[in-house]
Formats: sequence, structure tokens, C-alpha cells
Amino acid sequence: MLRTRISGISRRRAPLRLYAGILASLLLACYYFLCTKTLTPVDPPPYTPFASRKCTPRQPCARTELEALNLDKQGNLRSFGSPNQTLSCSPSAYSNGSWAFRPPSRPGTVPDRMRDPLDAIKFAGFEGCASSRLVEWALGADVKEQWGRWPNVTRWEWVPGEGCAGLEQWEKERMVRHLVEEGGWLLIGDSVTGNHFFSLSCLLYPHVIATPNYNNPIVRLTTDRGSFQHLYLNPASPLASPLHPNPLSFTPGFSILKTPLVTFRRVDVLYSKAELVAMHEEWYPGYPSRTHLFNNKERLHTQSVEEALGYLTAPLPYGNYATMIVSTGGHWRTTLFKGYADGEKEGGGIDGVVAFYEHVARRWVREVQERLSRETRNGDEREGESMVVIGGGSRRITKNVVIRPYLPGHDQCREAKGVLEEVELMEYERYNWRHIWKFNHIFETLLTDRQAYPNIHYLPIDRPGRLRPDAHTAKDCLHVMAGADVLEGWTRYIWHFVTQELGARA
Ligand SMILES: *[C@@H]1O[C@H](CO)[C@@H](O)[C@H](O)[C@H]1NC(C)=O
Ligand SMILES: *[C@@H]1O[C@H](CO)[C@@H](O)[C@H](O)[C@H]1NC(C)=O
Ligand SMILES: *[C@@H]1O[C@H](CO)[C@@H](O)[C@H](O)[C@H]1NC(C)=O
Repeated sequence: MLRTRISGISRRRAPLRLYAGILASLLLACYYFLCTKTLTPVDPPPYTPFASRKCTPRQPCARTELEALNLDKQGNLRSFGSPNQTLSCSPSAYSNGSWAFRPPSRPGTVPDRMRDPLDAIKFAGFEGCASSRLVEWALGADVKEQWGRWPNVTRWEWVPGEGCAGLEQWEKERMVRHLVEEGGWLLIGDSVTGNHFFSLSCLLYPHVIATPNYNNPIVRLTTDRGSFQHLYLNPASPLASPLHPNPLSFTPGFSILKTPLVTFRRVDVLYSKAELVAMHEEWYPGYPSRTHLFNNKERLHTQSVEEALGYLTAPLPYGNYATMIVSTGGHWRTTLFKGYADGEKEGGGIDGVVAFYEHVARRWVREVQERLSRETRNGDEREGESMVVIGGGSRRITKNVVIRPYLPGHDQCREAKGVLEEVELMEYERYNWRHIWKFNHIFETLLTDRQAYPNIHYLPIDRPGRLRPDAHTAKDCLHVMAGADVLEGWTRYIWHFVTQELGARA
């Protein structure tokens, strides 16, 4: 009896639930397909052309890309190091050089031509690559029709400008030692920073291993572009052996299995979307940022700055980072920040995005420096340096943030014959490439205040890459292949800068 009554009730309620379900699905469908399209039109957020910026002799800045290139060439903006510091090789002096064509150092050590995509590893002079993620793509070798680029594409070497008294001599074993003993590198940025990570996994091979292992099909199913990638010390490396004539000195708490030497975290636009929406609402209260700022259909991988700083300052064994290398630019487009899209304006309204970016970048450098200064106070009283006590107080590591300029693509890069002698300005719009210099220039000018941002350094080392239209991956003209010395040059210069100029050894 009881049972029939209950089942009777549930039979009567079932259609009700069905109707409710259908109604909910309709509402959802309406929200996704109809309602979002019928948002009431609103006035666009403010727009100021970048060229109308106010520059003064006391605070030099650029209104055009040519002016920005000249400022860098003269080394007029000091956005790195401590005030009045004389650098043995400043980033501007380094960038003031040219590419030189070099035959292979030992003839017969490399193949005469490409017969297999992995020949690219030998041409580049790598012993191998630790990363297993899209290996042939990352080497630029996945399109057979382009194999004629080798060997020439790997034969160029950057010769720094005369003002550079010499770079620290590259030796991968010393770089590994640096990463273990003086702290690791945390790479924060988009897929081009992903290219940089891949290149590091080759430069440091065989002394490092990389995770995740993308050769595992389950890993491929359960990871995406936003997943962490790490390089760890290879336990089989002679450097890791206690019998090594000059064994590595590990900080107490360091674990070969758990402590990354290099980590890549994908962050496309410096902050999470929610943070950017909140910031935008604060700056332009009249504008419905929540619904109108982003194009939610464009794919984006991005995280909160708090997360990145959390890693940079995390204690052993999971964190031992000393240098955070940040780069952003390629995703700051009106297709993503669709509230700014305006076909009538130059670059489709890009200068609106640039103006918002300026607010974001100013906030970012302030928050990052505040966090590093707080670590300083907790760790040590020394002024202007973030000395962090780790490993039971026995070691201190100076934490620094390096901003690497974003490298725009070269349109028509497939037609490129060799390298350029001067940077070519783009004459037409393609993505936001013509405007990338503005994003870089904003960071650079903010960071000329060396008193305010002692631990954040903008390094203008993009010129070598801008002269290499031949060095892109095979399927597009933005991503940069490993082995052509563009990505490897970033590593060598940043290593020089943090070990020699910032005196990480001191
Ligand atoms: C740097 O040099 C300027 C003048 O050239 C001077 O006023 C300033 O005190 C110096 N700063 C430091 C930290 O030495
Ligand atoms: C770059 O080279 C030019 C000459 O070619 C020189 O005038 C300028 O000072 C150099 N800049 C730097 C930063 O070394
Ligand atoms: C490679 O570079 C050399 C020297 O510049 C040049 O003579 C040769 O034609 C180039 N090869 C190809 C395939 O471009």
C-alpha cells in the first residue's frame, strides 16, 4: 500500500521534473546562443591613441615604434639592474650586435642535410631534448617541404654589440649548477614562453628530465596547454653523483625528485580573467565589464599573479625558484578584449587595449615588487634586496623578476631568405604584431624607476629575434623554433644577467 502510494507520487512527479529539466535546458540554450547575442549596446570604454602620449626629456618615452627602437639602440632607458650600476654587458649593448654565419665547428659532426625530423637536434648542436611535448613542432621540423632550411637556419650566431665586454661563457653544467645552488627559473607566459621552456630542455639535456611525459597516451588525454611543465635534475647525470669531482651542493630540503630546476606555467595575460574584469570595473565603473570586456569564445589560459608569486616564494622541496621570467603581449588583442574592438580605429581599436594594459602593468609591477619586498623584510633587513632565508637559515637566495620583451611574428616568414640587418617595421595589420612594441615599451618605461622596482628588470633583448624571420616554427610565423639560437640566446643572456650582473653568486 505504502509502496504503491509512493510509486504513484513519483510517477506523477516524473513529468514535472522532466518539464523543469526541459525549461532549464531552454534557458541555458537561450543564455549561450541567444541572450548573449542580444546584449544591450553600450558605449565603448575610453580610447586614447598611443601616439598622443606625453613624453618629456626628463621622462623619455616613444610615440612610434621607430622612436622606441632608437631609445633602445642608444641605451637611453635604464630598466634593469641597480641605479648607476655599470654592467659588463647591458641588455642594450648585447642587442646592439648582428648575426654571423658560422660553418659547423667540427665538420662531419652533423648530417649534411635533413633526412629525419630529429636530425634538427643534431644540427642545433643539442645532445637531445628532455621535453617530449610536440617535439617535431617545437624544432620547426614537422613539415618536410621546409627541410631545406637546414643546415643554414642553425648556423647563425649572435655577435653582441661593441658595448658588451663579453658574456659569461656558456656551459650547460654550470647552468645546471646555478639552477640547483642559486635557485631555479620560473617561466610565466604564453605559448612562446612554452617554446623557451622546450629550448631549455634541449640546452640542459642530458642533465635534466622533463615532466609531464607526453609519450604516455594517458598523460596526453589528461593534460592541456595550461598544464605545468617542469625540468628536474636527472638522477642519472654525473652532476648528481656524490662521486663527481665537484659535487653539487644541495640546500637542506632540496629533493632531486621533487624540486624543479625550471617550471613553465602558462599565463597569457598576467592575471586571471576574473581579476582583469574586476580591475576594469574599478577603472571604468560605467562600463559593464563583466559581460562586455572579454570574448569568452576565444581560448585563453591564464592564472592569478598571486599563484605565480606563490610558486616563486614557495619553500623547499617543491619551490626553490630565484628568477621569475615573464613575457606577455600576443594575447592582448581586440579579438579577446572584444569590448575594445572598433573597426573604424587604427588597429581595430588596439590602443584601447593598450591603455587598459598600461593600468594592468602598473598594478602588476607594484604587486610583484611589494611581495618581493615583504619577503625581504621577513628574511633579512638588507635594503633593496629580497634576501630570503631558506633551508633552516643556512642559505639566502635573492629573488628577481625578469621581463622578457614579447617577440612579434614576421608576416610572410616563409619567404624569408636568411637574416635581417635591421628591424623591419610592419606596414599593415596582422594580429596585434604591429603594436607589440607598445606593450613592451610600457613595461620598459615603468621599470626605469629603479628605486621603486629594484627587483624587477626589463631586459630589451628582443632585437636578435626580430632579425630572424627564418627562425619560426613550420606552421606559423609567431612561434619560434628551438635550435636557431633565438630562444637559446634568451637563456644565455638571462643566465649571464642574473649570475654576473645581479651577482647571484655574491
Ligand atoms: C646615481 O647618480 C645620480 C647622479 O648621476 C645621483 O644623484 C644618485 O645619488 C646616484 N645614486 C646612487 C644610488 O648612487
Ligand atoms: C649601439 O651602437 C651604436 C653605433 O653603432 C652606438 O652609437 C650606440 O651607443 C650603441 N648602443 C649601445 C647601447 O651600446
Ligand atoms: C646557406 O648559406 C650559404 C652561405 O650564406 C649559402 O651559400 C647557401 O646558398 C645557403 N643554402 C641555402 C639552401 O639557402
